[in-house]
Amino acid sequence: MPTPLWDALVRHVAARPVPWHVPGHKMGRGAPPDLIRWLGAGLKLDLTELPGLDDLHQPEGPIAEAQVLVAQTVGADESFFLVGGSTVGNIAMLLATAEPGETVLIARNVHRSVISGLMLAGASALAVAPDWEYDLGVPGGIRVETVARILGAHPEIRTVLVTSPTYHGVCSDLASLAEEVHRRGGRLLVDEAHGGHFPFVQGSPPGALASGADAVVQSWHKTMGSLTQSAVLHLRGNRVDRQRIRESLATVQSSSPSYLLMASLDLARQWMQDEGGRRLDSVVQTLAQVRGELDAVPGVDVLTAERARRAGGVGLDPARLTLGVVRSGGTGIEWGEALRRRGIWPELEEPTAVTFVAGPGDDSRIIGRLVQGLQDVAMEIGGVGEPAEGRRGSRVFPGTEAAEWAALLQELWHNEEGQDLIRPRLARKVRWVPLGKALGLQAARAVIPYPPGIPMLLPGERIRPLHNELIRMGRSMGVRLVGMPSDEEVVAVTEEGRE
Ligand SMILES: Cc1ncc(COP(=O)(O)O)c(C=O)c1O
Repeated sequence: MPTPLWDALVRHVAARPVPWHVPGHKMGRGAPPDLIRWLGAGLKLDLTELPGLDDLHQPEGPIAEAQVLVAQTVGADESFFLVGGSTVGNIAMLLATAEPGETVLIARNVHRSVISGLMLAGASALAVAPDWEYDLGVPGGIRVETVARILGAHPEIRTVLVTSPTYHGVCSDLASLAEEVHRRGGRLLVDEAHGGHFPFVQGSPPGALASGADAVVQSWHKTMGSLTQSAVLHLRGNRVDRQRIRESLATVQSSSPSYLLMASLDLARQWMQDEGGRRLDSVVQTLAQVRGELDAVPGVDVLTAERARRAGGVGLDPARLTLGVVRSGGTGIEWGEALRRRGIWPELEEPTAVTFVAGPGDDSRIIGRLVQGLQDVAMEIGGVGEPAEGRRGSRVFPGTEAAEWAALLQELWHNEEGQDLIRPRLARKVRWVPLGKALGLQAARAVIPYPPGIPMLLPGERIRPLHNELIRMGRSMGVRLVGMPSDEEVVAVTEEGRE
């Protein structure tokens, strides 16, 4: 299978050119010694827009060919390479679709980049809450009935953006969502950051493109074997303007995109169509066999497809393993630490659950080691019984009534002095407020546990006791929270500052 961009890079290097251009390390010769030691010959491929190597922002050569191959492989009309992760993909999708002041319907469990996109677009948002999987304490799917009800009450909404699969692997019924949104004249954008491998792995739920989504972003670096930060954006149909997507991407992406990242996307497509896809298939089959064994580990509840369906989803990413640990008496964070002591590093640790990502490089020995590690940790953490106080079913997403949350997000783009950096007319006072005194105020900054990067508190949301409870619980369990000026304060709007 052809790899046009990779081939062009290798041809260029093989011709032994003498570089008098950037990057200044000159194909590695002038790079810091440790970089040379670790990256070696790879530095030769760290090139830039040279004749024959094309230009990401106006592709006509090997980049264009490589993008066309991606589109053909996944069933898109056009695909775009991203060098800033799905983060820039989400921002570009919103810049290209949402007008200033327009309201977009987003899932409440979106990644923080969606909030950035809304802010930059000057758009407002309504948030629809996903269902909840109470045994594990993780979000489920977005129900089409809920979206239909909100769209019925807000016929002005043209753009809907959801995350599927979720970080934990739950897939929403995207085909029904697309049908509903299209019937009302809207378009469906899907953050499929975690689902790029679906077309390549048997038993995966249908991906967003196959389900009729209009624009889709995928972090190929997460599951497809390409380098960190490399991702793709796909378009299908004409509900999203292609030229606006191109212009938005040119605005948010570097003018010196990394050829290593782009070439790794070219190779990842070929790899997953071929050997990588086959390997991941076999890893997924082994994983399926051990799910039952893991469910038998004392205190552990495996997120199964059945559980995902009960929680508003239609399927589960077969390459992801999410384990609820509330019955074990320990937190997911304690489980993560105990596993790391045994050399096993999970993807995500939260108060109620731990999540693992399988890849084409895994095998039955590595999976066996995980199973053994989990059994050992279950012994170490001990007691199985009722979940610790307040943990079971804790809702990470307060504010389930979507219509309650409709903030003009750009209004909140302030500095701490209360001056609006973008539109001074809209200035409101924002202050650092002790958590205990913030109840009822509108949040001006998101509070985001990292990972997964899904805000606990969104800018524009009214701060409720549940937010405080979750923030305090997160802190006490050692969750890394970003967006708080200090351990006990949040950034909130104080009304006296309004003009
Ligand atoms: C659902 C979701 N969307 C988008 C992103 C951002 O992706 P990237 O890290 O590729 O920029 C993430 C990152 O974790 C994510 O989980």
